[in-house]
Amino acid sequence: MTLDRILQSQGFGTRRYCGDLIAAGLVEVNGELCDDPRANFEVDGLRLTVDGEEWLACTKAYLMLNKPTGYECSQRPRHHPSVYTLLPVPLRLREVQAVGRLDHDTTGLLLLTDDGQFIHAQTSPKRKVPKVYEVTTAEPVTEAQVEALRTGVKLDDEPAPLAAEGCEATGERSLRLTLLQGKYHQVKRMVAAAGNHVEALHRSAIGRLVLEPTLAPGEWRWLTAEDLAALLPE
Ligand code: URA
Repeated sequence: MTLDRILQSQGFGTRRYCGDLIAAGLVEVNGELCDDPRANFEVDGLRLTVDGEEWLACTKAYLMLNKPTGYECSQRPRHHPSVYTLLPVPLRLREVQAVGRLDHDTTGLLLLTDDGQFIHAQTSPKRKVPKVYEVTTAEPVTEAQVEALRTGVKLDDEPAPLAAEGCEATGERSLRLTLLQGKYHQVKRMVAAAGNHVEALHRSAIGRLVLEPTLAPGEWRWLTAEDLAALLPE
């Protein structure tokens, strides 16, 4: 692909704007200046420096974000800033989307991508991708509550009881819950139906992919090939 199209595909602006950046000598490719907008390169793995910003080019963008509390997973948020404001402009222009949503007050692992097929596969109810939540409860967790969450609780608009794939008490007021579905406010509603109340909610893993411990709230990183493999069924 030509360098001007590569920059455009990475979210650096229109093809003409990217061509102007290149012709002005503001773009390096794999550490060397390239001022020819029509020069050809393979996209994946190309190390770009665009007007001082380092960028690893990729045909499709896959990333994990440690979502902080107080952000909405929406392009048009209503009450809180959008998680998309935590991403660099090129990723926003590329229109990466959250893979499913977390509530504004939920923290932890959020995947984002511009690969629509990946979003569909990850969020399809048929795929039953396990998601692990660390729950802090208002009241002490009882054996009966854990048992109810494991065997199934009835939610208002669900025809059948919903059961957690896994549920264990991790402290006096904390639970680890693994769910195979991604229904609206599912953890909060299930914990309420079991007779307790969610005080704080954190998603720690999706499939076998665990939130990177070195990512501070609000930070993101690219997914590696191993990360993507950890999201595939076993
Ligand atoms: N369940 C909830 O209740 N909230 C979330 O953000 C995710 C799962």
